[in-house]
Amino acid sequence: MNKKTKNTEFENNVIQGLTNNPKYLSSKFIYDSQGDKLFQEIMAMPSYYLTSCEFEILKNQSQEITKTFNNKEGFDLIELGAGDGKKTKLLLKHLVDKQSNFKYFPVDISQNILDSLEKSLHDEIPEVDVETLQGTYFDILNELSTYNKRQKVILVLGSNIGNLMHDKAVNFLEKIQENMSDQDLLFMGFDQKKDPEIILKAYNDPEGITEAFNKNLLSRINREFDADFDLDSFKHWETYNPETGTAKSFLVSQKSQKVNIKALDLQVNFNAWESIHTEISQKYDDETVEWLAGQANLEIDNIFENENGFYKNYIFKTKP
Ligand code: AVJ
Repeated sequence: MNKKTKNTEFENNVIQGLTNNPKYLSSKFIYDSQGDKLFQEIMAMPSYYLTSCEFEILKNQSQEITKTFNNKEGFDLIELGAGDGKKTKLLLKHLVDKQSNFKYFPVDISQNILDSLEKSLHDEIPEVDVETLQGTYFDILNELSTYNKRQKVILVLGSNIGNLMHDKAVNFLEKIQENMSDQDLLFMGFDQKKDPEIILKAYNDPEGITEAFNKNLLSRINREFDADFDLDSFKHWETYNPETGTAKSFLVSQKSQKVNIKALDLQVNFNAWESIHTEISQKYDDETVEWLAGQANLEIDNIFENENGFYKNYIFKTKP
């Protein structure tokens, strides 16, 4: 047998998370090609209001949003977690129409997604000068300062920051802030606190798409580490705490069982009704966003909200 010298991040997460009490797995590992596909399906569900709300903001307010994006030397538009770019294309189209001088750098962990984004941009908005960057947010954040020749506009859409608890969210914002100069802007989406019932419905669709998305963590462990998770014996469970604004996803074992993860040489015992915590999707209000930003030496420059106030995009600048 080959002696491996270093575990992958996913292997470490599985080993640590499933031997911990209480058990956990990190949602960032949901996104293999199967997970990407399921997330596309989630974004198309009416109950997952986040996508249409942000789309509405970008569609109706791109004029105001991009007003500060422009200066003489042009700017670099860097998008962390670009995905299929459906929402970003609204901005790109607007910028092309007003003949802005800019270059678009979509960043994503998936080269597949980047390739199809580049191709669709070429077909739909061929005027856009695009260069894809494959890597984790972290890799790219470390390279950000090399784009310091002209204004940078950093884009993080989809309330992706919501997967991070506040301390990690501050770290993430700090990393971005460290690489921003005075003229640079950060444009970011934050899902807002609202009727708890609406939030629960967004993460608990009757078709079971979110359940399959959540369970893709277990399927991935089955596929990649030769494990024998019985997906049907786990229940997808969503909670929302209106006091903290934190939505949490769990997988709950409906019976006492043992799972064998052969490739990791790991046996995991579950008591009946024991849980695995898999994801948080934080909801925000202006005070919380302002506090987070302040912790990272950023300040809010402008706020854009959709009609019913479910969702907001903020523009941040670095504090003077
Ligand atoms: C992509 C992290 C914004 O938390 O709302 C969708 C992922 N999880 N349905 C979110 C997700 C369950 C999504 N983010």
